Amino acid sequence: MSAPNVTGAVQAHRDSITDPHRFWLRAAEAIDWDTPPRVALEHTDAHTWRWFPDGTLNTCHNALDRHVDAGHGDRIALVFDSAMTGHTARFTYGELRDRVAVFAGALRQMGVSAGDRVVIYLPMIPEAVIAMLACARIGAIHSVVFGGFAATELAARIDDAQPTALLTATGGLEPGRVVDYLSTVRKALDLCATPPHAVVVKHRPEVSGTASRQPGWLDWDAVVADAEPAGAVPVPATHPLYILYTSGTTGKPKGVVRDNGGHAVAMAWSMANIYGVQPGEVMWTASDVGWVVGHSYIVYGPLIAGATTVLYEGKPVGTPDAGAFWRIVDDYGVNVLFTAPTALRAIRKEDPEGAELAKYRLDSLRTMFAAGERLDPQTYHWATEILDRPVVDHWWQTETGWAICANPRGLDPLPVKPGSASVPVPGYDVRVLDADGRELGRTEEGNIAIRLPLPPGSLQGLWNSPDRFRASYLDAFAGYYATGDTGYFDDDGYLFVLGRSDDVINVAGHRLTTGSMEAVVATHPAVAECAVVGIRDEVKGQRPVALVVLKAGADVDAATLQADVVGLVRDQIGPVAALKEVHVVPALPKTRSGKILRRTIRQIASGEEYKVPPTIEDPAVLDALPNLAAQPNP
Ligand code: COA
Ligand code: AMP
Repeated sequence: MSAPNVTGAVQAHRDSITDPHRFWLRAAEAIDWDTPPRVALEHTDAHTWRWFPDGTLNTCHNALDRHVDAGHGDRIALVFDSAMTGHTARFTYGELRDRVAVFAGALRQMGVSAGDRVVIYLPMIPEAVIAMLACARIGAIHSVVFGGFAATELAARIDDAQPTALLTATGGLEPGRVVDYLSTVRKALDLCATPPHAVVVKHRPEVSGTASRQPGWLDWDAVVADAEPAGAVPVPATHPLYILYTSGTTGKPKGVVRDNGGHAVAMAWSMANIYGVQPGEVMWTASDVGWVVGHSYIVYGPLIAGATTVLYEGKPVGTPDAGAFWRIVDDYGVNVLFTAPTALRAIRKEDPEGAELAKYRLDSLRTMFAAGERLDPQTYHWATEILDRPVVDHWWQTETGWAICANPRGLDPLPVKPGSASVPVPGYDVRVLDADGRELGRTEEGNIAIRLPLPPGSLQGLWNSPDRFRASYLDAFAGYYATGDTGYFDDDGYLFVLGRSDDVINVAGHRLTTGSMEAVVATHPAVAECAVVGIRDEVKGQRPVALVVLKAGADVDAATLQADVVGLVRDQIGPVAALKEVHVVPALPKTRSGKILRRTIRQIASGEEYKVPPTIEDPAVLDALPNLAAQPNP
């Protein structure tokens, strides 16, 4: 791509595309290797590639030991702040390394060895970080499951990953309720075909007694008390570091596999060049370790960079107020803050003038980054104004593991364009294609695709599913990875991401599929057929709504039906699905071949303009669909 002025960002991108070997071997120098790679990239077949195939390293060593060995053992690695309990804790690099080494030893004692999977189902407590790094230390592959998922979702992940051990806690804390992890684990294990050999429970004093442990489950503190510290084991760069499940178009989640070597290099490069964070500085990513953003920039990125990371258990508002984020920045001297636009909109709604913000000192804060969904211009302008600092949108996905497009603050920053995630990051050769795979020109909207290979740090494949990997991402456009997002480049080469071309919706920065919600709604005995669509929401960006057609003779009132369906989705997918609205309609619009016209339903429900599709079977059906944008938000 070209831009009017060649800045550091644009030049770095050119270098990475014209000579990826040179670019990434240089970037790899930021990592401690047991065997330094001499080869950057190897194509194993037309569909697969491997970064640093001859290198060996340990990611945990790079995140902890090497900083201790370099004399920074007293530097703070991890700050824990729970707005839910008022509890705070600080861990130096030395302390965190020791705790991780002992827990790695405990995992070994349980029979976990290199290549084994460990499912981590923990709330936002330091043990989650310790567990991830302990797996990395012994070459085990972790799979963290977000706490807002229900037992069936946890069971699906366990069955796919087939873990040797599952690590959990007595509970998590959400405003006004305790998240009962143990009941969910028990139910999930009942549903599983292949339960893990060991279940380890961290007892949280503030949430004890919500459910009992099963006989045979191990106590976290007891296994740690008995364990000997384990050293960091070198693994091939291509060895998987983790599996992270994300929404698929079917109900079955996709297990994104990330390697050790490419990931470590991408983390180190992005910390310095995208986020501009130096060793010893403080980065706070206000996300959850259950999401990719948490994996990359709560845990691995900041620690690999030798920075201090903040783990926050709380919300942007209500814990206790809309000043929560600014308190954290003040208390810990945060230099770089990363959050989701939905969190900013939640704060703006409660504190539009920044009265809460004015109570805190934000001198340390240099830049705020946003991702998880598009940073809408209104929120961008509000945040820039009240913070008086650069606010940077950047676009990425669970699959890529780090930003595809950004305004790299560690290079010469480019001017910001509100509504755009700026320009492609080194390694990502981003193109916009039409439905037939032809490249579109500037300003033309189409499917956003990335020419293969993807750069270091991006997914290696899907766990146990090479065919699904190809079918999901590589088959649509030969030679490209299909992102599933649509958008366009402007005349200056800035990318504007507009939305998804599939049934993925983005609710409060959480990626969900309407297809899996529909599958659950359809199980209600009174429902003949249904469609779930994402409509615009003032705070969450989108929210799911279900439109249902009742079976002939079904005797159920609207309120009971809504409560039942909402309960089903909560129970089968989890509270994070956030389906709260169910509307009965006489019929769903369909094509003559019987395909439900979801896009048209979404446009009508969102109060947007729409064209009557020429393939529609009965246009009169559209008249009975509700405009939900005109109704109050539940
Ligand atoms: N464990 C258990 N339940 C969880 C959970 C977790 N880790 N996270 C969320 N939930 C539950 C919530 O309690 C809520 O349940 P409820 O219906 O009983 O109230 C439900 O899932 C929906 O949660 P959410 O969509 O997050 O809405 P919210 O009203 O609780 O909070 C925001 C709204 C905007 C404040 C919140 O979504 C937020 O901070 N978002 C940031 C998003 C983010 O970090 N995304 C990661 C990508 S960068
Ligand atoms: P996830 O895999 O949960 O990180 O979600 C990835 C999806 O979120 C992307 O495919 C986009 O649809 C959306 N997304 C994330 N960040 C942005 C952004 N900065 N701008 C627009 N969409 C985004």
